[in-house]
Amino acid sequence: MHIFLDTANLEEIRKHATSGLIDGVTTNPSLIAKQGADLKSVIQEITSLVDGPISAEVLATDYDGMLKEGLEYAKWHENICVKLPCTDDGLRACKTLADQDIKVNMTLVFSINQALLCAKAGAFLVSPFVGRLDDIGQSGMDLIADIVQVYDNYGFDTMILVASIRHPEHVKMAALYGADIATIPTKVFEKLSKHPLTDIGLEKFLADAKKKQ
Ligand code: E4P
Repeated sequence: MHIFLDTANLEEIRKHATSGLIDGVTTNPSLIAKQGADLKSVIQEITSLVDGPISAEVLATDYDGMLKEGLEYAKWHENICVKLPCTDDGLRACKTLADQDIKVNMTLVFSINQALLCAKAGAFLVSPFVGRLDDIGQSGMDLIADIVQVYDNYGFDTMILVASIRHPEHVKMAALYGADIATIPTKVFEKLSKHPLTDIGLEKFLADAKKKQ
């Protein structure tokens, strides 16, 4: 499973990009706004730090506007993935961009039917938001399992990117269900390597090694 960082914070990306564990980055308008910088400069900086798909979301909500922004973003770097909301206009814009070999990440996906349409529109990535479904009392991870099944049924190439991850359990389940990618907030990513028995075990090994000397 590929791991993306779900952040627009350049310090966080710099810190983890050299680990060799990060395969891409997702951003959204809220994450960009938090950085207080303009989209183009943040995205361009990210492309210099991580060699993998970098998602940049359009702000337009109509077909022509999405297309204009998407075509512009795609010029910034070959790794740019244009992020479009899963609306009727977004799906149309996805098809048009995909037909021009521009990678599209369809975002704000909350149902199997939306995911089905995204694949038919030629999306490179589909982003089901698991945490936001959990927030309203539905199971985000059940949706992932269902999309994996539907995409397998028909051999769709669109990659399933698990988004809106809140905790390591989401990452574990994404891997168990066979999602292609998990995009992970930095604070969750930093928890993945941790286990109390690793710390206790290491402490004991080092203490034992000292005794021998
Ligand atoms: C990433 O592509 C999504 O925009 C992000 O995971 C949404 O996360 P949130 O639901 O925590 O805002």
